[in-house]
Amino acid sequence: MPNAISGFSKFTKSEKIEWLLDTYFNDKNAARTLVTQYWNTNEKLQKLHDEFIENTITNYYLPLGVAPNFSINNTLYTIPMAIEESSVVAAASKAAKFWLERGGFKTKVLSTEKIGQVHFTYAGQFEALQVFFESVKPLLISESSSITKNMEKRGGGILDIELRDRTNSLENYYQLHATFETLDAMGANFINSCLEQFAKTLKREAEAHLDEELVVVMSILSNYVPQCLVRAEVSCPVSELASKDIKNPQLFAAKFKQAVNIAEVEPFRAVTHNKGIMNGIDAVVLATGNDFRAVEAGVHAYAARNGQYASLTHCSVENNTFKFWIEIPLALGTVGGLTSLHPLVKFALELLEKPSAKELMQIVAVAGLAQNFAAVKSLTTTGIQEGHMKMHLMNILNQFEATSQEKAQLIEHFKTNVVTHSAVVEAIEKLRG
Ligand code: MEV
Repeated sequence: MPNAISGFSKFTKSEKIEWLLDTYFNDKNAARTLVTQYWNTNEKLQKLHDEFIENTITNYYLPLGVAPNFSINNTLYTIPMAIEESSVVAAASKAAKFWLERGGFKTKVLSTEKIGQVHFTYAGQFEALQVFFESVKPLLISESSSITKNMEKRGGGILDIELRDRTNSLENYYQLHATFETLDAMGANFINSCLEQFAKTLKREAEAHLDEELVVVMSILSNYVPQCLVRAEVSCPVSELASKDIKNPQLFAAKFKQAVNIAEVEPFRAVTHNKGIMNGIDAVVLATGNDFRAVEAGVHAYAARNGQYASLTHCSVENNTFKFWIEIPLALGTVGGLTSLHPLVKFALELLEKPSAKELMQIVAVAGLAQNFAAVKSLTTTGIQEGHMKMHLMNILNQFEATSQEKAQLIEHFKTNVVTHSAVVEAIEKLRG
């Protein structure tokens, strides 16, 4: 077992790497080459990346792909996607093309409210606390003005602050539940700064005016944003679903709806169904420099809002019309954070024609809906493996270090043969004699 290290964060990047090589690696030269080959030769660019986080030793690449032909409210988009999983970008592109020919995606932002809370305990009477809160509320807002003034100038800021009594769930537990409009910013820093100022004012005023002690436990935004909602939808007459892979559109629509209904009632299926949605959502969230962990946490909480984890998409087949839609909470930003720092994030936002946060919410929701459409379409027709393994073929060939010539021959071979891992291995072995 290696010894603990102190002062590691003070080491230079090279010293950090040497310590890692000495401590964990047998072939130090090979490990050093592996790590340093991912350094960018442009020193300025490398320094920028080094400074995004702490203890950086190198860069970790993910491919950035694009899915063209997305018609969203009659505007055409090419959507950037950063993801490691083969077949996701292909599925998005295919779904985009399918719906381009059937009216495209229609979207709407339903609300944009963000939430933050100051959690505190108080052992006195609730009535006294309530009177105190009403008197101190204007001060909470006015003393945050240096933080809120710029946001207010642009039309955002604090929307409201409520006192919430949570003593039924936890002894002496109360909160300031605050709502915010953060416009094109995701708003985490803005909200947290406001909350910490609320906490300061609250504590100071409580010491002066309340008989019992008020203890602030913590002040933090919530990543659960059920009032920051976006909806995306596709629809068409059932007969228009007919395509190369959909020979019987009535049967397809009924089976597709059944599959969505299953995800609405069966949590084991719902989790995988929603995972497919997040394949699309996370990829765009990541490409546009947004916080995918925050989005994931908030979206899954929303999926469980009725007490059981359920599908985020819904489907209806009525009056010969097929309709498929998603409604999800998304707290995204197109200014601040990484958006102006990471060169590829800038590229991704420019590719999307510099969207507002509201526009980005709609694009991201569409990516999720498209991904889910493609997955459920495959699942209820050919099965997922046919398309998935075709896309995964290149990964298997790379595992076996296939040459360009071998790749070309095997890709040709698998155009008419079923791709499985063992079938590819067999084919490579045969080819190599
Ligand atoms: C794989 O990454 C995603 C799927 O499993 C989603 C689904 O089952 O709906 C194909």
